[in-house]
Amino acid sequence: MSSAPPPVPRPMTVPEFRGAKARAAKLAVVTAYDYTSARLADEAGVDAVLVGDSLGMVVQGHATSLPVTLRDIIYHTRCVIRGVRRALVIADLPFLTYQVSPRQAVRSAGRLMKEAGAHAVKLEGGTRMAATIRAVVAAGIPVMGHVGLTPQSVHLFGGFKVQRDEAQLLADAKAVEEAGAFALVVESVPADIGAKVSAAVDIPTVGIGAGPGCDGQVLVFHDMLGLFTDFRPKFVKRYADLGSQIRTAVETYCQEVRDGTFPGPEHSFR
Ligand code: KIV
Repeated sequence: MSSAPPPVPRPMTVPEFRGAKARAAKLAVVTAYDYTSARLADEAGVDAVLVGDSLGMVVQGHATSLPVTLRDIIYHTRCVIRGVRRALVIADLPFLTYQVSPRQAVRSAGRLMKEAGAHAVKLEGGTRMAATIRAVVAAGIPVMGHVGLTPQSVHLFGGFKVQRDEAQLLADAKAVEEAGAFALVVESVPADIGAKVSAAVDIPTVGIGAGPGCDGQVLVFHDMLGLFTDFRPKFVKRYADLGSQIRTAVETYCQEVRDGTFPGPEHSFR
């Protein structure tokens, strides 16, 4: 009896991602910064992989995402794109690579698409970024918006604080939608506001600390797997404790090297 090969999953497209809201299909998004984690996330069935500038914290060890450069995101997106077969790959525009002018934004976004192979870009800001989003979309580049706690403005907010200005959040979400974004990250807002923002726009909202009323969720890979323990926001759910598993595994390796148990005959050539 011949067994049929497993079906090849169809790649996720921007229109399909955008249309998930109309189909009432919740979107699962996770960040990834390298080939191996992107491949694991893709095989696990995520709808999109975000090459987030959160890599400034969880990969580079900075206190904020502000030092991340466009070159960093290009490098990491290239690694991620090789690991992904189905998911949409969205690359973050880092701080000061798009805020100066819509022209600068088109250039930077273009590099993420052309040099790194991203399928879409994400940028932070609502009403104040509408003209910029419009320009990038007009260049043929799909844009995901990001409102609420926008970490690149952390110093303006005075810290990583929950954003509660409902009127501003609604205006920001609508401005991002009207400017042509295909989806919207909503970060660190009370759950009732997350639900109201989601109801106010036709594009899918992808929440992080924005409650269950969003159309999808995104988590940072290192947070959800217990790999990053410098701090843990309330909205993070740990699905695994890989940090302590890795520590124990490496400790065991060190011990076996030192007491001569490793390598054994099964790991040696005759
Ligand atoms: O940089 C990032 O990882 C993000 C997500 C947390 C939304 O922007």
